[in-house]
Amino acid sequence: MIVYENVTHIYNRGLPNQQIALDDVNLRFEDGEFVGIIGRTGSGKSTLVQHMNGLLKPTTGRILMDGKDVSIKGLGINFNVGIVLQNPEDQIFEQTVFKEIAFGPQNMKLDSGEIKRRVAMAMDFVGLPKDILETSPFDLSGGQKRRIAIASVIAMQPRVLVLDEPTSGLDSAGKKNILQRIYEHHKKEKTTVVLVSHNMEEVAQYVERVVVLEKAKVTMEGKVDEIFEKPNELRKIGLDIPRISVAFLKLKELGYDVKNVHTLKQAKTEFFRLKKTLQER
Ligand SMILES: Nc1ncnc2c1ncn2[C@@H]1O[C@H](COP(=O)(O)OP(=O)(O)O)[C@@H](O)[C@H]1O
Ligand SMILES: [Mg+2]
Repeated sequence: MIVYENVTHIYNRGLPNQQIALDDVNLRFEDGEFVGIIGRTGSGKSTLVQHMNGLLKPTTGRILMDGKDVSIKGLGINFNVGIVLQNPEDQIFEQTVFKEIAFGPQNMKLDSGEIKRRVAMAMDFVGLPKDILETSPFDLSGGQKRRIAIASVIAMQPRVLVLDEPTSGLDSAGKKNILQRIYEHHKKEKTTVVLVSHNMEEVAQYVERVVVLEKAKVTMEGKVDEIFEKPNELRKIGLDIPRISVAFLKLKELGYDVKNVHTLKQAKTEFFRLKKTLQER
């Protein structure tokens, strides 16, 4: 379990361009959960998740992992938590794709056979072709850089997987595949997943619990259902709910006896149930 206790993060503290990016945040992430972090640009999402592995340290407050303070300044990166940064260029630095993906497993002091196995597994996971292993990651497209960034984290098999807007820059088929695989991985390995996303369809489909950030503070927190039941509150802070949810809220307003629905799959089930009850009348 990861606990954020009164975490405040101030960039450029004391300078004219000081920015409070997190303001007294208290949060709890249970083992094996799939959590979504939503909020408009600049609300503090990336700052929040980079505290999870010690990439950023809080200005005040602390972060506990299984009761141990992992936010002490001077303490290095916590390898139990793997983060795919919002901008893949921020984490790619090796000369070849192989070296890039092998970097984490090498740091974990795995033997060379295991490292090769991990690299192959991670490439397969994100759908990268094997013939680019010796290519420089910098020569590849944005979408492929994104896949390499994800693969290099997957190769470490972290207990907690943090993805900061992982699907931007991917085509829609690629988006779906990668998230679907991450979801299956989460189910199978009981990995905790924290997904920062702008895409509410994505959130509805994969996430169990949602944390809403607004101006450096957590303003809402709850199950997907509870959060998407308040479209007006979300709209006020620049967020939408899935279009299918809007349609079903509308049906409810019109007096139809329907449940709240947030994915196409749920919509199909609910639609046929409604059709049946209407026919039975
Ligand atoms: N390295 C940085 N230096 C100074 N200010 C920053 C830095 N990174 C982010 N910020 C500021 O902190 C706030 C939160 O940013 P960020 O965590 O990136 O939000 P989000 O991921 O929700 O877009 C923004 O006002 C942003 O401009
Ligand atoms: Mg961000």
